[in-house]
Amino acid sequence: MSIQELSTEQEVEMITCVIDGFEVTVPKGTLVIRAAEKLGIQIPRFCDHPLLEPAGACRQCLVDIEINGRAFPKPQASCTIPVEKGMVVKTQLTSPVADKAQKGIMELLLINHPLDCPVCDKGGECPLQNQAMSNGRAESRFEGEKRVFEKPVAISSQVLLDRERCVLCARCTRFSEQIAGDPFITLNERGALQQVGIYEDEPFDSYYSGNTVQICPVGALTGTSYRFRARPFDLVSTNSACEHCASGCAMRTDVRRGKTLRRLAGEDSEVNEEWNCDKGRWAFKYEVAKNRVTKPLIRDENGLLQEASWPEALAAAAAGLKNVTAGVLVGGRVTVEDAYGYSKFARVALNTNNIDFRARTHSSEELDFLASTPITATYKDIDKADHVVLINFEPEDESPIIFLRIYKQVKKRAIKVSSIAAFASRGSQKLNANLIKTATGAEVAAINSITGLSSKSVVLVGERAVETPGALSAAAKIIATSGAKLGWIPRRAGEMGALSAGAVPNLLPGNRPLDNASARVDIATVWGSESLPTSTGMSTIEIINSDLQAVVVGGVDPMDISPDAKVKLSKKFIVSFEIRHSDITEIAQVVFPVATVVEKNGSFMDWQGKARKFESAVDQSLNRSDVRILSMLADEIGKPINLPTVKAARNEFESIGNWDGERAAMKATASSEIKSVKADEAFLSSWRNLLDKGSLQDGEENLAGTARQSVVVISQSRANLLSVKESDLVRVSNDYGAVTLPCVIEDIDDSSVHLPRNSIGSQLFRNLGVVSNSIVKVAKA
Ligand code: SF4
Ligand code: SF4
Ligand code: FES
Repeated sequence: MSIQELSTEQEVEMITCVIDGFEVTVPKGTLVIRAAEKLGIQIPRFCDHPLLEPAGACRQCLVDIEINGRAFPKPQASCTIPVEKGMVVKTQLTSPVADKAQKGIMELLLINHPLDCPVCDKGGECPLQNQAMSNGRAESRFEGEKRVFEKPVAISSQVLLDRERCVLCARCTRFSEQIAGDPFITLNERGALQQVGIYEDEPFDSYYSGNTVQICPVGALTGTSYRFRARPFDLVSTNSACEHCASGCAMRTDVRRGKTLRRLAGEDSEVNEEWNCDKGRWAFKYEVAKNRVTKPLIRDENGLLQEASWPEALAAAAAGLKNVTAGVLVGGRVTVEDAYGYSKFARVALNTNNIDFRARTHSSEELDFLASTPITATYKDIDKADHVVLINFEPEDESPIIFLRIYKQVKKRAIKVSSIAAFASRGSQKLNANLIKTATGAEVAAINSITGLSSKSVVLVGERAVETPGALSAAAKIIATSGAKLGWIPRRAGEMGALSAGAVPNLLPGNRPLDNASARVDIATVWGSESLPTSTGMSTIEIINSDLQAVVVGGVDPMDISPDAKVKLSKKFIVSFEIRHSDITEIAQVVFPVATVVEKNGSFMDWQGKARKFESAVDQSLNRSDVRILSMLADEIGKPINLPTVKAARNEFESIGNWDGERAAMKATASSEIKSVKADEAFLSSWRNLLDKGSLQDGEENLAGTARQSVVVISQSRANLLSVKESDLVRVSNDYGAVTLPCVIEDIDDSSVHLPRNSIGSQLFRNLGVVSNSIVKVAKA
């Protein structure tokens, strides 16, 4: 048996003990505080958190304990002591000693705690308030002056600290160190002066900092963008799902008078546990942006968009789409139900398979890969993996909860992580990953060099693998030969659902191969269609470059595809489904306003293929989900798709189920020839940082304050060649344009240079016309 099997599959010994007179049996190692919870006994606590290592910092959870008749001389912290055979525990409910001890601790905590409750964000949902009422003394005996600190201290642009409210529970510091691997905050000083602080030379720019605000048991840490905005009892809370990435976080959305005021991580032990990232938590102002499209619009004879009634806009769109050649571009923001609507609309209303959700670099190799290779990996597989391989995938930037899940196993079991990339990013370094240093474009050889994978290994392939011809074929081969589990990680939340809904040119809903007659019959039967279009449709770039007369566009930014996509699309009849005015509405003939996630019901599908359902958080919104409008438009065209509601779309999609027939074999794509670069040239490596200029982060200044600085990453030998030192300006250019940024010297492949893909000062499609797999010139600026 391997070490991993020992640690994940050994039998668990059960222990029986007595708490407040009741017997309880729990796995060996269970803490007394958890065993009491099993009996429904609530012991007050501040520092205890089920997902953090015990600290015994606050002493609020004191209980009386005896083992085999021998009593501890003093009350003990129930959050640090595991149950033992023969243990008898008396909590505050049955032991006057424990009760007095807890009241004493509470009294000490309140000595220096300010009387801030009426103005504190935590007031109304504060464990200190609640437990002071349930387990504290009714009156204080303290008559001195309370300690005061300057307040608040900004420990980052997103998180404020009121030090005098802190109960020194060390939840924030333990989270940052144990869960996120970002130990940028710490407890400074000792005794009465002890306080949370940041390091002088390292900012608290963790991607996960909002979790510290959420788990702080008092109002010591508050979110800058929520501070003083609302009281908890003014808010209506709705369980929701994050729309930003494929990690699939459960969320809670808190709304006041129709406006989202904050979002919190929801609990789902199989997905995000109790955490989320700062983008999911704090990027939601786009919902109320001034440039929201609120009414249907039609372009008039002067070329101006004019407000129109729904019947007028539907008639205008239908007129432009009837009896013409057409395609559909589906953006990454769509829900599963909306994607299903687009998929059915293309086939039934437009009679075409010209539909693609991939608003980014893509290839036919990727379509073959997605059609042929089952995506089997889950978060649980990461928990048990013997080896996690990252291929063109930076989990901390591109799917942050996957990063946390791998990091957890790295901390717990030191699992092996390998990363194929040009250099070890900050995330890779935290994962202690074995870097297979590779120039962009040369990944195929690196993938082929991976050995020792087993059925317990997990290979996580990022969507950027498509940028190197042959990389997905090589990945499929190592999966097939080793039996390792495959995770394919698109960056956007809607892509997995769109794939499953058949919003691609070669697959029908439920991953049914278009070229399989019985798969087509399945779908035609559900849809009540006599037949479906049979020929493989066009991809996104083919639709853009084609002479199709019309394109329906559901929230796509043409600058995510190519620099000239907008110009090419402007020659077609465009029907746009948009949240806000955009490059596409500028060229559209008809624009339909659509709902954001808080204004509609629906679901996303996370990278595991798990549905993440959510309900509308804002009931009074008049905005409609894409699928409802598509259904009206199909009626107007005279080819109904009969999906008048999100529920109807969901029920119909779920009734179809997944294809269990044969999948097409992967048609291996050969790798392209590896070029060489001259001394002043480099292969361009890039990915999108989590916090960047993405349109769903517009207007979030506090969030942007912790975005990583835009830099050019070069190797030491290139730095020597250019005679530059760290922070000197370096210019990366090609015939299209240039990017000039301070440089950082890292252990990067000598023939490569790395830039952020869409950050301040480095928006590669705009600045260079390319995002990767391209040769650029590098010079001292
Ligand atoms: S700031 Fe909050 S979470 Fe951090 S130690 Fe103080 S009370 Fe605990
Ligand atoms: S990890 Fe992804 S799904 Fe979770 S909160 Fe962040 S952006 Fe949203
Ligand atoms: S909850 Fe037990 S010591 Fe803090």
